[in-house]
Amino acid sequence: MCGIVGYIGREGQEDARDVLVGGLENLEYRGYDSAGLALSNGDLTVVKREGEVTELVSALEENNPGAAPVGIGHTRWSTHGEPSDANAHPHTDCSDDVAVVHNGIIENYEQLKAELRADGHQFESETDTEVVPHLIEAALKRGADRESAFRSAVDRLEGSYAIAAVFEDADDVFAARQDSPLVIGVDEGGYYLASDVPAFIDHTDQVLYLEDGEFARLTPETVGISDADGRPIEKSLATVEWDAEDAGKSGYDHYMLKEIHEQPRALRKCLRGRVDGIERTVDLDLELDDVGGVHLVACGTSYHAALYGAQTLRSQGIPAQTFVASEYTRSSLAGQSPLVIGVTQSGETADTLGALRTARAAGARTLAVTNTVGSTAARECDQALYVRAGPEIGVAATKTFASQQIALHAFALWLGEGMVDSDQIDALRTLPDHVQSVLDDSNARNVAREYVDASAFFFIGRGYNHPVALEGALKLKEISYEHAEGFAAGELKHGPLALMEDDAPVIAVVTGDDERARKTVSNVKEVQARGAPVIAVTDGRSDVEQYANHVLTVPETEPVLAAVLANIQLQLFAYWIAAELGRPIDKPRHLAKSVTVE
Ligand code: G6P
Repeated sequence: MCGIVGYIGREGQEDARDVLVGGLENLEYRGYDSAGLALSNGDLTVVKREGEVTELVSALEENNPGAAPVGIGHTRWSTHGEPSDANAHPHTDCSDDVAVVHNGIIENYEQLKAELRADGHQFESETDTEVVPHLIEAALKRGADRESAFRSAVDRLEGSYAIAAVFEDADDVFAARQDSPLVIGVDEGGYYLASDVPAFIDHTDQVLYLEDGEFARLTPETVGISDADGRPIEKSLATVEWDAEDAGKSGYDHYMLKEIHEQPRALRKCLRGRVDGIERTVDLDLELDDVGGVHLVACGTSYHAALYGAQTLRSQGIPAQTFVASEYTRSSLAGQSPLVIGVTQSGETADTLGALRTARAAGARTLAVTNTVGSTAARECDQALYVRAGPEIGVAATKTFASQQIALHAFALWLGEGMVDSDQIDALRTLPDHVQSVLDDSNARNVAREYVDASAFFFIGRGYNHPVALEGALKLKEISYEHAEGFAAGELKHGPLALMEDDAPVIAVVTGDDERARKTVSNVKEVQARGAPVIAVTDGRSDVEQYANHVLTVPETEPVLAAVLANIQLQLFAYWIAAELGRPIDKPRHLAKSVTVE
C-alpha cells in the first residue's frame, strides 16, 4: 500500500534525502511497486523509479540533487495506471514548481483532468494524483499564495486522500488528509510527516495525528494545523510506545518468524490488567450497556479472528454474527440494533472502515478492536479495545491474529457476566506459557520439509478450530504461493473430497475429545481412505493420531484456547513451507499490509 514520508529540518540539521530514503525503507513492509522523492533546495528535484527503493537510491546517486533541507517521498502501490517511472509519485505541475505525493483515490479526477487540459495543462501520467499539482499551479497563476493554492486544490477533490506538497524555492511542506492516515513527528532536528509512524520511529516517538479535514503546514520552526476553514487547531503531542528496536528483526531471518515468536509477550500484554486471577473477573476499560447482539465486520485474517470472536460471544449467550466487511450493507442491519465491532489490526482497512461507517450512519454503536492506537477505526468508533500486539511488520498477520483472538475472547467474557469460571481464568493466565511451549517444541519445520512438493493443502476444523483452519490455509497461500484451502470439517464430504490426492495433505485441527472432535476424526478417516496424507494438529485427547501421517501437538487447555495454540503450529508450518521454497516471506507478491482502497 502507498506510503508517504516528508521531512523539514531546522537550520543546520540533517539532509532531507537521507531521512526520506530511511523513511521509505521503513515503509517497504506495506508493499509497493515504485518509489520517488522530491527535494527542495531552491531548485525542486524529483527522482522516481518503478521497482524497489534501492532503484531510487541508485537514481539519486546518478542525479545528485545536492543537500536539501526539505522534501517529500512516496512508495506507490498502483491503483490508477500501471507501475512505471511516470506513474510513480511525486507528481509535478507543468513548470515543475510544485511536487505532490498522495495516498488514496481521487474519485473526480477525470472531470478535473478534462477541465485542466482544456486550460492547457499537460499531463505526464495516468494517475489520479497528477491533477493536484496542476490545480495548485492554476491557483498560483490566479494570484493565490502557496497555502491558499494548496487549500483550494484540496477543496476540489472528492474521494480519499493523504496529500503532501513541496514547492520550488520555499522551505515548507503542506499536508491534508481525508480518509487516509497522516501523522506528524516532532524532534529537535525538525519535523517529519508520514502515513505511518514506523517511517520516522528511528528519529522520534513524539507525534501529532491529523484528523480528516485538517491541513498542516510544516516550516523549519513550527507546525501549524488548521481546519478546512483555516481556523488554527491546537493539538498535544502523543507518545508512540514503539522504539526502533521493536521494529527490527532481532536476529530472525524474517519479521514473520520474529513476530510468531513474540506471541507469548504479545498475549501477556493483551491480558495485562484485564484478567484478575483473584477476583476471577475480566475487566476491560469500556462502557457498554444493554448489548443485545453483536455484528463483527472484518477482512482477511481479521475476518477469521472475527469468526472466532463470534463463537466466543455466542458461548456467553450473546447473539453474534460475522460479516466480510466489503459485504456489509445497511440491509445487514435490518431490524437489528447491534453493537458493531470492526476487527482490524491496522485500523485503516478501507472495507472495514466503510462497514463501520455504514453502521454508524444507521445509528449503531461501534467498537474498534485494533492494534493501532490513533488509527482511523480507533478514532471514528465510539470506543476502542486495543489488542496490544506491538508493531507487526510482516505482511502476513500472525501475532495480531492471536492477540485479536484473545482480546475478543476477553471481551466475550467481560460482556457475558462479571464472575468467570475459574478454569477459564486459569487457562487464560497460562496461555502465554502454553504458546511458548508450542514454539519451543514444534516439529513443524520437519513436517513442512516432507510436504514442500505437495500439489495442494487442505485444512479442516470444527467449532473454534474452523476459523483456525481457514486462517491456516490463508497464511500458507499468502506466503508460499501454494494452493491451500480451509473448510469446516463437515463440509469436506460435500465437494472437496473429490480433490483428495496422495500428494495433497489434509491438515486436520482436532482438539478436545467431545462430539465435534470425534466427528472430525471420522472426517480424517474418510480422507485417509482416499489416499491423502494427514497432518493432525492435536492436544492428544482424541485418537486422531492413529490416522495421521504426522502430528503437531499442542498442550491441553480449554477448548477455546486450544484453537489459539493450534494456530501457532499452522503459522510455523506455513512459514517453513515458504522458507523451504525461498519465498520473500515478509513481502509476498501482490499483497499489502494495510489495504486502504475498497
Ligand atoms: C490485508 C492484509 C491482511 C489483513 C487484511 C485486513 O489484506 O494483507 O493480512 O488481514 O488486510 O487488515 P486489517 O488491518 O483490517 O486487520
